[in-house]
This record gives sequence, structure tokens and C-alpha cells, in this order.
Amino acid sequence: MIVGAQWGDEGKGKIVDLLAQSSDLVCRYNGGPNAGHTIVADGETYKLRHMPSGILWGKECVIGAGCVVDPEVFVEELDDLGGRGLPVDRVRLSGDAHLIMPWHRAIDRGSERRLGKLKIGTTRRGIGPTYADKAMRLGIRVQDLLDAKILRQKIEVALAEKNVWLERVYGSETIELEELAERYEGYAQRLRPYISDTSLLVDRALREARFVLFEGAHGTLLDIDHGTYPFVTSSSTLAGGAAPGLGIGPTRIDSVLGVAKAYVTRVGEGPFPTEIDGPDQERVRDLGGEFGTVTGRVRRCGWLDLVALRYAARLNGFTSLALTKLDVLSSFDELPVCTRYRLPDGIETDEFPAHQSDFHHARPVYETLPGWTEPLDEVEDLHGLPDAARAYVDFVARELDVEVCLIGTGAEREQVLAARELDAIARG
Ligand code: IMP
Repeated sequence: MIVGAQWGDEGKGKIVDLLAQSSDLVCRYNGGPNAGHTIVADGETYKLRHMPSGILWGKECVIGAGCVVDPEVFVEELDDLGGRGLPVDRVRLSGDAHLIMPWHRAIDRGSERRLGKLKIGTTRRGIGPTYADKAMRLGIRVQDLLDAKILRQKIEVALAEKNVWLERVYGSETIELEELAERYEGYAQRLRPYISDTSLLVDRALREARFVLFEGAHGTLLDIDHGTYPFVTSSSTLAGGAAPGLGIGPTRIDSVLGVAKAYVTRVGEGPFPTEIDGPDQERVRDLGGEFGTVTGRVRRCGWLDLVALRYAARLNGFTSLALTKLDVLSSFDELPVCTRYRLPDGIETDEFPAHQSDFHHARPVYETLPGWTEPLDEVEDLHGLPDAARAYVDFVARELDVEVCLIGTGAEREQVLAARELDAIARG
């Protein structure tokens, strides 16, 4: 199980890609095209939206029931990746996953517009409204694509209501039924071959002792229940979410690898205690190429926050940690690392505040670690790291009491240092 430990964009795609080599099946269990994985392989850049990263190794891939699927994006991705020679026929799509419809995207945009200054800063991909309809039991599911009559009927019923909302509440354009129904029937024909009983498929793979990798989307602090609500996404992003998101029991998850950047980024609105003040913010952003995969938005950058990471370790039960993009920190004399928060009443704590107001007003308390200036891109193993970089990693491991088993030192697939054999890491 691989899960993001911060606010998403931790570089999970690259870690999944690395461990997918030793896997038989790679599964996504939450989110939709709001997640974007960028993977650089053999000099080619792949931007994955729906597809699990295992597709780059030709692995069988699952998109589970906990996901939301935008058929338009899915078809685009099939064409793009298929056209570049990847075996997209190995993708299996759960019939229980929900479909993102054009009204979901329109409502997402309209809702953000209405919220004005209070907006969440969503990716505007229709994620929240799709999960809302799922909870309202009004959603259209992937399996509805299997029957043209059912699909048409469900679109018609939903649209009659959604058009009223679009027009009256959001002042947006309404959607025309015939054109939509025809377009979706076209998507249905493309998607049908991929639909299968993915819960059974994963269960069988596990029974046959095949190696299954679960790929979490987004990050811990974007979790709908335990994240920095309301500035979160609408799905369960935690390791435990993989069980309902795929339709397996929680006892089937053997190990949980958290992925954290060596610093922190966040896109969208919401509190961010270690956000950097001053020119270093831009320096980190430029060095790290911190611009969104999905929306191209500028990512806010901050120093490493161990209070939030400790919380992530608690929520997910990390058995080990991957620290990515350590190379980005290679040109700072000193590196502040937040080990505690100072709360409004002056009390210092190393635990994540349970109350939102405490978190909103928390001030970071930093320990300053020595930086290093040597580039890391040529480093081949852990022993080759500059002393200060090694000390930085050891500090994180000690503070969290979790082994750091992988360290990212550059964008290329090979630029990862491993504490153990990859096969052993992949098997927990
Ligand atoms: P939504 O998921 O589009 O509803 O957006 C809700 C919040 O989650 C916004 O702050 C987004 O920027 C953030 N978000 C959603 N997915 C990701 C991701 O994969 N990486 C980083 N932030 C994300």
C-alpha cells in the first residue's frame, strides 16, 4: 500500500512506478482525474490521470469502486497511452465506480464561483459533486454504461434536476439531453470492454499469492474525514480507504509505505503552517518545478512539517517512508524543519491539533539543520549522500520512528536510493 503523507503531489507516482516492477497487479481505490501522476521514464514524460502507474510496466491495473471516473478523460487517456504503445487493454474498471458527468464539472465550477473568497480551490474536475451524488444515491455508475437503455434513462432523470440547479442556482448554461446521451453512448462503447468485477479480481490475485500494489491518490491531509476540512478532497485518501475502495477486507493490507516530500507543497486554499515567507518559497518552487499536473496551478511551498507527518503516520500506520525530492533542497545553507506547533494559548505540541482553530493559528517551531550544496543527481547509494543530507534523512526517521527506505534524488526513474532491495521493500 502506497499513500501520500502530505497534501498530495508527494511524488507517489514515481514510487508506485518503481515498486510496480515487482508487482502483478496495481490498483487505485479513490479519487478521479483530480489526481495527476507525472512519471518520467526513458526520457519520456507520462501524465497519468485515471490510470494506475503500473500501466507503464504493462501490469494488470485496477480502478476500484471508490474511484470516480470521467469517461471523457478516460477515453482520452486510453487514446494517448494506447497510441504510445502501452497495453491499456490490461486496465480493469469497477462497475461500482461512479461517473463524473458534465453537470458535476459545471456545478464544481459554479459552486467555487459562488463561494468567492471562501472557495476551496478545487481542481474543478467535478469530484465533490460526483461523490455528493453518490452519497445522495443519485449517482450514475460505471455499470450503467453496460445497458444503453438504462444509461439514457438515468441521464434523462438526472439532467432534468441538474439543469434546474445549473440555471437557477449557479446561473450556468444548461445541458442538452440528446447531444449528451449520444456522446455518452459513444463513451460507453469505448469503456465496456474494461468493466469487470474488480473486487473479485483483487481477491483472487491475493489468494493466488500474487503481489498486489494499492496506489492511494492525493494525500493524507486531503482526506475527507481526517484532513484539513473543508480544504480537502471528497474521498478517503488514507491507507484504510483501500479496503472499501477496492472491496477487500482490511486484513489483506500487509504494509503501508508513506510518501512524503523532503519539504511540503499544497495547492488550493487552506491553512499551511510551514508555508515559506519570502524569496525561498519561489526558490523551492522553481527548483522543484512545483506547478500542478492537473491544473497547472502554482503550488504553495513550505518547509518540512514533522507534526503533520507524525499525524499522517498515525492515521495510516506507516510501516516505512519514502522521502522524495531531496535533491531540491541541495542549495540551502540551512534547512528549517518544523518539529512542534505553538498554539494560540502559547502551548507547544508535537501532535497535530484536533481542533480546526488551533490548526489555523498554529505557528511552526523549527529546528534548523545544516544544508548541503552538492547536487544529488549522481549519487548512487545511501553512502554517497553528503553528510548533511544523510543527517536530514536520519532526523526525519528518528522523529517519526519510521524507517526511511527510499529517497528521491531526481526526476528520472532511476534517481531513487533504496535502503534495501526493491523487491524486499515492495513486499513490506
Ligand atoms: P477536488 O479534489 O478537485 O475537489 O479539490 C479539493 C482540494 O484538494 C483542492 O485544494 C485541490 O487542490 C486538492 N487536491 C485534489 N487532488 C489533489 C492532488 O492530487 N494533489 C494535490 N492537491 C489535490
